[in-house]
Amino acid sequence: MVLITNVSDYEELAKQKLPKMVYDFYAGGAEDQWTLKQNREAFSRILFRPRVLIDVSHIDMSTSILGYKISMPIMVAPTALHKLAHEEGEVASARAAAAAGTIMTLSSWSSCSIEEVNSCGPGIHFFQLSVFKDRDIVQQLVRRAENAGYKAIAVTVDAPRLGRREADLRNRFKVPENVVFKCFEGLDLSDIDKTNASRLAAYVASQIDSSLSGKDIEWLQTITRLPILVKGVITAEDARIAIECGVAGIIMSNHGGRQLDYLPATISCLEEVVREANGRVPVFLDSGIRRGTDVFKALALGASGVFIGRPILFALAVDGEAGVRTALQMLRDELEIAMALSGCMSLKEITRDHVSTEGDRLR
Ligand code: FNR
Repeated sequence: MVLITNVSDYEELAKQKLPKMVYDFYAGGAEDQWTLKQNREAFSRILFRPRVLIDVSHIDMSTSILGYKISMPIMVAPTALHKLAHEEGEVASARAAAAAGTIMTLSSWSSCSIEEVNSCGPGIHFFQLSVFKDRDIVQQLVRRAENAGYKAIAVTVDAPRLGRREADLRNRFKVPENVVFKCFEGLDLSDIDKTNASRLAAYVASQIDSSLSGKDIEWLQTITRLPILVKGVITAEDARIAIECGVAGIIMSNHGGRQLDYLPATISCLEEVVREANGRVPVFLDSGIRRGTDVFKALALGASGVFIGRPILFALAVDGEAGVRTALQMLRDELEIAMALSGCMSLKEITRDHVSTEGDRLR
């Protein structure tokens, strides 16, 4: 039995445990998977400039996200179909996030329903919205999230089409019959055979609205009182447009390297977007975070918090809710050590001077 010491250990074990088709679906990136690799490598090029001789006997990692107090700046990203990893699916992940005192984002492509996740216990939940051509479906999803007590809508803007994930093509990836896209249950899709998961998946994918624009973000704000985050921005230009549309925050993401290949790592573009936001809205980041040191680096470069994707799925596959709890605890412990060893007692003490990027070192 391997002693699990970091979140990457969960990936190794999940690879042994999961059917190859599921592991590849979770782990894979688009095309050459260049961005997928960059997401890790870019973090390794950022080094620390720690301060010592500072009292770090008490470390406070708590923060406030859109007015909600959480225990640490590490949140759960929306990822599809948690039931492929574990029979309890997103309910287990949500319970683990709540136990860790943090936010769980439920995907529009989830295998537990909006209501199931919210009624599984206390916790702060965000809902990730994929915008479909049929705006009735969008309205229904938003309404359900609102009624179920979700606190924000994260609109995914980097997936007007799905990226080409070649492992899924090779494996002829199919959603097993016993796993259902719960967000679409109960919707009026009368002409679709909802008992056939793969047919439903193909239908749902074909319904993504590739004409999504700033106008739709403005429209969303007219149909809900929930704050809107945009997920998938990586340039200053798009950050400006999103802020002009009135969003409450930006989640920088390259979708974990699953959409357009040869995008830079989000951590490499973070400062550009933070500069544009200029404190008007918080900037969050995901893609490639596997260590507490990665979280520290993102905060030092201006992020207000980070989201974790695959490690949650792999921990869930290995040990269900307990696995996700442990994964979140390990990231928390690592961030705490990174803060102590850098001389930071609280998140606001983490500054740009605590890290050096390649650009800094060339200067
Ligand atoms: C995702 N991601 C994603 N994003 C989204 O907005 N809606 C979704 O349904 C999904 N589904 C999904 C499935 C799987 C298997 C993965 C790995 C990812 C992207 C996700 O929210 C996040 O951006 C990345 O996972 C972050 O990168 P890391 O942490 O996985 O490297």
